[in-house]
Amino acid sequence: MTVLPEPRLRAADVPPGAVVPITLGDDEYVVWRAQSGRLCAMARQCPHLDWDLAEASVVDDELVCPGHGWSFDPDGHAFKRNLLGRVDSKDEVETLALDERDGEIRVLP
Ligand code: FES
Repeated sequence: MTVLPEPRLRAADVPPGAVVPITLGDDEYVVWRAQSGRLCAMARQCPHLDWDLAEASVVDDELVCPGHGWSFDPDGHAFKRNLLGRVDSKDEVETLALDERDGEIRVLP
């Protein structure tokens, strides 16, 4: 796990498809990058049943929880897809504001 003394990490450490757990103060998050290159940071615990999203996978532009398959887009919208292709909207999760420049990703206050 990456503990950030300052709210920043190297962009090279978060390539497309990567999920990186970080700690800010007492709170744990994951920073992940969609295949399109979009970045997202959200709480490390899945809002469904608290699965550790550090174990999640990036599929296209969504983070997919290994617990029960909820997925999250970079804007924090949550979905559940069933085997027949139906998509049910779930809660939204809070996302952290990020700024990427000069090879660094910073978490904005
Ligand atoms: S714990 Fe993440 S989908 Fe159920």
